[in-house]
Amino acid sequence: MEKQRIFSGIQPSGNLTLGNYLGALRNWVSLQDEYECIYSIVDMHAITIRQNPKDLHERSLLTMALYLAAGLDPEKNTVFMQSHVLEHAQLGWILGCNSYMGELSRMTQYKDKSTRLGDSIPTGLFNYPVLMAADILLYNAHLVPVGDDQTQHLELTRDIAIRFNNAYGETFVVPKGYFNPFGARIYDLQMPQKLMSKSAENQQGVLFLLDDEKTLQRKISRSVTDSLGTISYNDNQPGVKNLLNIFALLRKESIDGALAYFEGKGYKQLKDGVMEAVLDTLLPLQEKVYELMKERDHLEDLMAQGAQKARSIAKVTLADVEKKIGFISRRTNEHCD
Ligand code: TRP
Repeated sequence: MEKQRIFSGIQPSGNLTLGNYLGALRNWVSLQDEYECIYSIVDMHAITIRQNPKDLHERSLLTMALYLAAGLDPEKNTVFMQSHVLEHAQLGWILGCNSYMGELSRMTQYKDKSTRLGDSIPTGLFNYPVLMAADILLYNAHLVPVGDDQTQHLELTRDIAIRFNNAYGETFVVPKGYFNPFGARIYDLQMPQKLMSKSAENQQGVLFLLDDEKTLQRKISRSVTDSLGTISYNDNQPGVKNLLNIFALLRKESIDGALAYFEGKGYKQLKDGVMEAVLDTLLPLQEKVYELMKERDHLEDLMAQGAQKARSIAKVTLADVEKKIGFISRRTNEHCD
């Protein structure tokens, strides 16, 4: 049987967090044998919010290094920069002509992000979900692992795919979300009712994958708990619950296992346990990242190889789409080599 295809992407904006690692990256690694996986570093999405060019460049390489350090095998998977495969922009345009102002205006992420921008809302920010649809549909991905904040965009992708198929004949696979059975949401250590986010205003509650040891220790030791003083797993103790989740996920333990481990212990020991688990995971990961970052040329080579693999699929889909809508064939597909 053919393997099902998975597509997902992470923006190289901001620094990746423990939430990104436990919610996305680590799960991607676990999928690489069972599925045909295509993972993109979506730099074209990142520029919907103004980026400092030097930082964007550096973060793109760092994200690639993190993918590899986390265990994504560039032989088994297709790992590439979105901007290296020009078909994304081209299909994005075509899909933009098949999506509506109304549906895009309803995207809650757009509403959130745009209110902060006053009169200077880039149209790219508005169109962003269309580009995301292009990312997914270009590869005819069956499954898309995404967090809660992206399910609305995935719904829109499905709507666009169905609409296109109805208008022009069967073209796209209509993708589904992939929800990781072992995932748990990771919340901010200072505000445990908010998801841990790389764009949080106060970074004290956010564990970044590349925070140094002292910073990680400080953030964990100052994480918010409560005044109950008992370690149990319930919604009245969101801080404690979050720490237990982090511990259990990092140690690959069940929640019951984590509760048993901390039985009769206090919050100080809970935080120490979490700290140890975090450092055991992140310090070796960081070491690998910095090792990889010494060979930038090698990273760029791997990106180029990934792009070539991605293109071999993307160009077939785009040619099919262009034919269906009536464009004249370019005859040559070598326009971006
Ligand atoms: N929009 C996603 C985010 O901000 C990133 C993304 C872009 C993506 N294209 C994608 C995720 C395609 C899954 C599939 O997190």
